[in-house]
Amino acid sequence: MPTVVITGANRGIGLEFARQYAADGWRVIATCRSPEKAPAELTGADGVEVRGLDVADFAGVEAFGKAVADTPVDLFINNAGVYGKRGAQAFGAIDADAWMEVLKVNTIAPVKMVEALLPALQKADGAKIAILSSKVGSVADNGSGGNYAYRTSKAAVNMVGKNLALELGDIPVLLLHPGWVRTDMGGPNGLIDTAESVSGLRKVIGDAGPDQSGHFYDYAGKEIPW
Ligand SMILES: NC(=O)c1ccc[n+]([C@@H]2O[C@H](COP(=O)([O-])OP(=O)(O)OC[C@H]3O[C@@H](n4cnc5c(N)ncnc54)[C@H](OP(=O)(O)O)[C@@H]3O)[C@@H](O)[C@H]2O)c1
Repeated sequence: MPTVVITGANRGIGLEFARQYAADGWRVIATCRSPEKAPAELTGADGVEVRGLDVADFAGVEAFGKAVADTPVDLFINNAGVYGKRGAQAFGAIDADAWMEVLKVNTIAPVKMVEALLPALQKADGAKIAILSSKVGSVADNGSGGNYAYRTSKAAVNMVGKNLALELGDIPVLLLHPGWVRTDMGGPNGLIDTAESVSGLRKVIGDAGPDQSGHFYDYAGKEIPW
């Protein structure tokens, strides 16, 4: 059975990815910052191994990569992300340290994760990488402004994904917008639930080949302009 590594798998979209892949018989390496607080539906699920990992702790990321280096990893889902303090990313009230933290988690950690996981990905036959971006990182789609930290972190991770696609060649790298999803980050007014988002994203990932690498898609498979 294939193996998937997921970051931020303890809640929201990451938890649903873990649930759906495990239900399909995949081996799921579900990582999260505080495994002792992970919900029972994750820790008790068949085929799921929960491991502690803060993606902003780059020494920890490197150690995690070494720990799984001998395991063929068929799919890496870079899901972990932060929105950042809302009041600290409006023009006139920019908090530079808070912005840096958002960039660290949303933009730099995905590259460090792929660097660390590369040996494991190269051991699998036909590995893929999926990076959770956001439509609000699309420059072309930006019609309302604001949210400087989150928007720039996702615009920049799109460039990270395109670079990785060029760098890695035969490992497709996808940038994915999950939709506006009802999670802690998306809030209660989101348009879809995690089950609908993740079912769609899994189809986009499953169907992806070399031609889709370095492209930006939503959960319905529609390409999003940069
Ligand atoms: N929901 C939406 O509408 C929406 C829309 C567009 C894009 N996205 C993107 O989709 C992804 C998942 O979003 P979500 O809605 O599921 O968010 P969420 O409910 O806020 O969950 C975020 C997850 O990321 C984890 N995380 C944050 N910082 C971390 C770190 N340093 N190390 C490890 N894990 C960390 C959180 O862990 P803790 O529990 O430890 O904090 C949590 O598991 C994010 O990349 C987000 O930007 C979401």
